[in-house]
Amino acid sequence: MSLGGKPSRLALIGFMGCGKSVVGQRVARQIGWTFIDCDTYIEKRIGVSIPEIFENFGEEYFRTLETKVLLELTEGGERLVLATGGGLPTQERNWAILEKNFVTFFLRVSFPLLFERIRESPQRPLVKKYPTPQELRRLYEQRIPFYERAHVIIDADFLTEEEVAEKIIFHARDYGLIK
Ligand code: S3P
Repeated sequence: MSLGGKPSRLALIGFMGCGKSVVGQRVARQIGWTFIDCDTYIEKRIGVSIPEIFENFGEEYFRTLETKVLLELTEGGERLVLATGGGLPTQERNWAILEKNFVTFFLRVSFPLLFERIRESPQRPLVKKYPTPQELRRLYEQRIPFYERAHVIIDADFLTEEEVAEKIIFHARDYGLIK
């Protein structure tokens, strides 16, 4: 399958804790592309940590930064693997950018597994904002339809990071993005 002229950029999307950053780094290393973690990029760019951005400027401001950075990254070079923040694909304006400029991969992990991974993450402002499993599950469920718009969905519950990376590389090849 070929996307005919699709730019050489991969974006990993999914809920907090699904492994976007670790897997993205691994994929980039294996195929020799640049890896960028959207959150880290924002933090470096403005010199303030994500929790501090949420605390001092609010979530809306953070979402504006996410869109700015996403646009900026599409203006830069290709051969890019991007790990997005969990909320980025839930903004329509960001989907328009993602769809046009990236092949998107949804790392689908079931809620109980994700919850175990993120429950002790004080660095994640949304875990603070939604402190009960019920609230976080609601957020997860609201987001699923956005994530499911991805070009490729990978069910990652029973896969190692290495296996998820292998699947992404397989599909990237299938799309004609790498040899
Ligand atoms: C967020 C996820 C975080 C980070 C911010 C908001 C979200 O990224 O962008 O805390 O809205 O789900 P990770 O998905 O990498 O944890």
